[in-house]
Amino acid sequence: MSTSEQSAVRLVDAGDLGASQVAVVEETPHGALAVGISAGKPFAVSNRCRHLFASLGKGHVTDDGCLQCPWHASLYDVETGKMVRGPQGAFKPLAGAVKATAGACKLKTYPVELRDGAIWLLG
Ligand code: FES
Repeated sequence: MSTSEQSAVRLVDAGDLGASQVAVVEETPHGALAVGISAGKPFAVSNRCRHLFASLGKGHVTDDGCLQCPWHASLYDVETGKMVRGPQGAFKPLAGAVKATAGACKLKTYPVELRDGAIWLLG
């Protein structure tokens, strides 16, 4: 067993993600994280949307691999944490401004790996 395997923290079983391909993991060394799989690769990002702080782990991963907020459908690139589309619906006229302000403050991203059917946070 390598040193990184010894210090890794098991976050969630890939089989427990369901159709949304993302879940909230509350108890981690970094607090609550949104953890999932995008385009076959695992990811872990901070859980609070930069718009009005919805729980991103309750959103879903889109067909093109972005994490979509469950409240107003902002989209995030899970590799960089960047908001790539601002909020929709009633907020759509403000989407560009939100993306430029709240979106400039990226989600934090954390190193993870997919191993033994689970997503692990690397130390
Ligand atoms: S809270 Fe996420 S888009 Fe509004």
